[in-house]
Amino acid sequence: MKTFKIAVIPGDGIGPEVISEGIKILNKIAEVDGTFQFEFTEFPWGCEYYTKHGIMMDDDGMDKLKKFDAVYLGAVGYPGVPDYISLWDLLLKIRKGFDQYVNIRPIRLLEAAPCPLKDIDCEDVNMLFIRENSEGEYAGAGDWLFKGKENEVVLQNGVFSRKGTERIIRYAFEVARKEGKTLTSISKANALNYSMVFWDQVFEEISKEYPDVKTASYLVDAAAMLMIKDPKRFEVVVTSNLFGDILTDLGAAIAGGIGLAAGANINPERQYPSMFEPIHGSAPDIAGKNIANPLAAIWSASQILDFLGYEKYGKMVLDSVEQLLIEGQVLTPDMNGVSSTSEVGDRLTSIMTALF
Ligand code: NAI
Ligand code: MG
Repeated sequence: MKTFKIAVIPGDGIGPEVISEGIKILNKIAEVDGTFQFEFTEFPWGCEYYTKHGIMMDDDGMDKLKKFDAVYLGAVGYPGVPDYISLWDLLLKIRKGFDQYVNIRPIRLLEAAPCPLKDIDCEDVNMLFIRENSEGEYAGAGDWLFKGKENEVVLQNGVFSRKGTERIIRYAFEVARKEGKTLTSISKANALNYSMVFWDQVFEEISKEYPDVKTASYLVDAAAMLMIKDPKRFEVVVTSNLFGDILTDLGAAIAGGIGLAAGANINPERQYPSMFEPIHGSAPDIAGKNIANPLAAIWSASQILDFLGYEKYGKMVLDSVEQLLIEGQVLTPDMNGVSSTSEVGDRLTSIMTALF
């Protein structure tokens, strides 16, 4: 029997609560399928670990994670530990160290999911955001000169390498071609006269290799407006690290909210494990109460299934989530329900089992 080794980093706050529901779903699928199984290994890293040991993850943590097929992460960050430490010493360390240069965020409005837009059909909101995940505005390059002095100067540089820009754009073209969809590039070449002029140029160059893929290109500010006013324009979207970060939160807001938003950090060459996570944080305000919405974590579990080649099961998970929303009986308080995290996981498991 095939065994997939998954490293689990439940992390802080609601992380462990939502991740255990995702594991429930993955185990159920493997059990019913019968030809493969998951082996989950938990790592206790995160802010609590930092408070005890002074480090977010073990010094040889990356070596430990390297041998897994995928990493499944809850959320990291907690009051008492500065966010830049939890982010840079764990999340970004993994994203960068494992060269997970593709961030994939599906922005798809499931039927019966809450949507703040008026007169919108579910089919109108179905985008796949492909965000550059390794450099750009989040490269961490810059300087802080004359700190605290009158002539203080802070530099935060964007880094757009040819290799980094080409590979993300090419990846997006491949996805658009495979899915028969249009590809939209989002940039800002009017104001960012080096990085985004370069981005647009590379997009243009690579588009010549894909004459079959229809393309569009927008400035980021216009794109933000159009995502609200006319979301169906966007199918596959490729953009930089910062723009992708911001626009995908906007996307999450129109596609069911933070309780339904998932993101995958992919190393396409599969030289290193890829990492799957709900995009929400540790939600300290509701942690430990068993009321966190596990659907985002479950959606990211469906991305694990897609990634491992079981797209049929990935789709089955999403169909089950949609059915759960349509039923409207077993939902957590953020979706105006009264059920607990584990009740949602259990209900979803039975809906899904009936779909087999
Ligand atoms: P957050 O996403 O944790 O919470 C924002 C709001 O959404 C809160 O009211 C929370 O209760 C609610 N919420 C979030 N997820 C929910 C869920 N599954 N079900 C129901 N309600 C949910 O963002 P916040 O408060 O800005 O950050 C809290 C901590 O999490 C910080 O330390 C931050 O750095 C960290 N964080 C970590 C992320 C990650 O690990 N990828 C991403 C975002 C934040
Ligand atoms: Mg973000």
